[in-house]
Amino acid sequence: MRTAVNFIFFIVFAFGKEIEETLDAADTISHYGYTVEKHYVTTDDGYTVQLQRIPVGRDDRSILGCSKRPVVFFMHGLFGSSYHFLLNLPSQSAAYIFADAGFDVWLGNIRGTEYGLNHTSFSTNGVNFWNFSLYEHSHYDLRQQIEYVLDYTRHESLFYVGHSQGTAVMFARLAEADVTWQSKIRVFFALGPTAGFMKPLMPFTLLEENYLQALIQFALDGKFGILPVEIPRAIASKFADFCSSKFFTFLCSAGFKVAAGIETLGQVNDSRIPIILSHFPSATSTLNLLHWMQIFKYHELRRLDLGTARNLIAYGQKDAPRLEIGNIIAQTILYFSKDDQITDEVDVREIIMKQMGPGLIESYDLDHFTHFDFILGLRATDEVYKPIVYRIYKELKKKGC
Ligand SMILES: *[C@@H]1O[C@H](CO)[C@@H](O)[C@H](O)[C@H]1NC(C)=O
Ligand SMILES: *[C@@H]1O[C@H](CO)[C@@H](O)[C@H](O)[C@H]1NC(C)=O
Ligand SMILES: *[C@@H]1O[C@H](CO)[C@@H](O)[C@H](O)[C@H]1NC(C)=O
Repeated sequence: MRTAVNFIFFIVFAFGKEIEETLDAADTISHYGYTVEKHYVTTDDGYTVQLQRIPVGRDDRSILGCSKRPVVFFMHGLFGSSYHFLLNLPSQSAAYIFADAGFDVWLGNIRGTEYGLNHTSFSTNGVNFWNFSLYEHSHYDLRQQIEYVLDYTRHESLFYVGHSQGTAVMFARLAEADVTWQSKIRVFFALGPTAGFMKPLMPFTLLEENYLQALIQFALDGKFGILPVEIPRAIASKFADFCSSKFFTFLCSAGFKVAAGIETLGQVNDSRIPIILSHFPSATSTLNLLHWMQIFKYHELRRLDLGTARNLIAYGQKDAPRLEIGNIIAQTILYFSKDDQITDEVDVREIIMKQMGPGLIESYDLDHFTHFDFILGLRATDEVYKPIVYRIYKELKKKGC
């Protein structure tokens, strides 16, 4: 009986499994015939993250007579990883498109993802490891990866493409960086940008402010442990296996589309859903989600609000310091859409566009892009990635390599 059940499972699971479901970012890149390198950056507070680099595209072209390929650095969103830029076929995924367009492509990661589970002294099973939020991603993970890449490639500056939380960490970084550091970012391309929210988004706003603060105190004290928030990989990959089988693809695709809010727009390739589910979601910390809840409450980016007493010790003031995006002078270009339910058009216009000063140079309001279409949509190649490639060519032509 048991053998029969196993046999049925074998039949159901064995067919239609895509190879990328079992490959990590670097192996997927080499599976498609691209050169790949893995690099490791250890932050000042002891976390080691892996970056993947595609130093050259398939046809080895160099652009505009530049002696070295200009660097384009990608940073993923919340619950994501560098795999976010590899989810579709090479002609449809940002990482390969930029490599083939002549750039030196670097895919960054933050701590807590499967490429950032290594610390010099903390174990991922302990509460200390998960004691981080958005600010640590910005101040350590992002800053130090950018500095590493510039140092390694001997470039003065690079082009940056962020998605969602990958834009928030750059807004936060630029807001507190001096002019010299900001000049490292030649153009900041912000996809589904976020630096605060005008309207509530469930479940982020369910908590009253004092409950939210109480939870943050508990988290900081390690009382409920500062747990990772994750779907254990074993379950996620079983689910992906289940979705792989021809019988269930339809069901999974329907469920995924409803969950991601993309039911009406049809930009996602259903056949890729098992692959998407085997690389998403990655883990984050409870504290990071609580920090995001504060961003909803305050409608702006601030350091984590630790409560008055702890704020005085940590920041020398009662309130958590604001991260003023008005300070940004690095050239910033926004890509957003009315159909993005997560980083709403209103948030982009009322918060980012109103508060930003001279740094904001262009913005594009796209038709029918959901939040995940910026990384998964089949129209992203023509409507987002290629326009960015040409925008960078223009910049290089105007101001040199
Ligand atoms: C963890 O990071 C150290 C450097 O801090 C490195 O030597 C080691 O290989 C890394 N381990 C893993 C599993 O990535
Ligand atoms: C988490 O970090 C904060 C400082 O950033 C510290 O006050 C707190 O004790 C830490 N908690 C744990 C459990 O490590
Ligand atoms: C959708 O994904 C499948 C599986 O990877 C691939 O074979 C197919 O060409 C893709 N379709 C489109 C329209 O890109």
